[in-house]
Amino acid sequence: MPFDLPRVREQLPGRRIEWLESIDSTMNAAARLAREGCAPGTVVGADEQTAGVGRHGRSWHSEAGAGLYVSLVLRLPLNAEALPLVMLALGLATHEAIAQATGLAADLRWPNDVLLGRRKCAGILAQLEGGVVIAGIGINVSHTRFPLEIEDLATSLRLEGAVAVSREDLLVALVRAVDDCCRILTKEGTTAILKMFSRASSYTHGRHVRVEQEGATLEGVTCGLDSSGFLRLREENGKETTILAGGVRPV
Ligand code: BTN
Repeated sequence: MPFDLPRVREQLPGRRIEWLESIDSTMNAAARLAREGCAPGTVVGADEQTAGVGRHGRSWHSEAGAGLYVSLVLRLPLNAEALPLVMLALGLATHEAIAQATGLAADLRWPNDVLLGRRKCAGILAQLEGGVVIAGIGINVSHTRFPLEIEDLATSLRLEGAVAVSREDLLVALVRAVDDCCRILTKEGTTAILKMFSRASSYTHGRHVRVEQEGATLEGVTCGLDSSGFLRLREENGKETTILAGGVRPV
């Protein structure tokens, strides 16, 4: 079904929302608008991405019409060190939007993979462009299958039982949730977001995980988030490590 942009604009008055049929990546379009000085909260979405970008240099599968592929330009009163916390806030917002639009209770895997069961239904990127955060969010909505290389890892809202989810309603819920979570982070502070994330994620405490990092694999049990939003891991020898980046997988 074609994306009903007027319906979204009506529900988000005063918000700049650009929608494209096809683009390489909404991250590029949003970064361009940011450089041109667009208003805070500007949204760029597309029905299809031909070169969707994931974390760690991976690509993001962006089947036409089957997902929500959007980037938001966030002008937040925060410095670059707060980016990991912004990542957590965006994960929470996506988790919340999915719950509102579908009733599904997702899990969050640090830093911000959104899971249904053990598979990923949404992913988030946050890039800093000259003091502006470009937040890229991809939600698998109505995919019925995935390419072989990710079919064991990926799922969609539809495959998890939420049929006929409107991408328009999901986008409205997402934009409002991003606003809310960013407001909580900037006004209520770090502790509020850390608490909310810990409550929403089964991965922050007591999960036996493996962490693939550049050149090393760590294994241990998660033991919370530090004040910067990084994950703490207790290895079998008792040593505690702060995970700054890397893919966290259950063992
Ligand atoms: C991840 O690897 O988990 C992050 C995936 C982020 C995908 C979204 S889709 C919209 C935006 N445009 C992109 O090219 N990537 C992000």
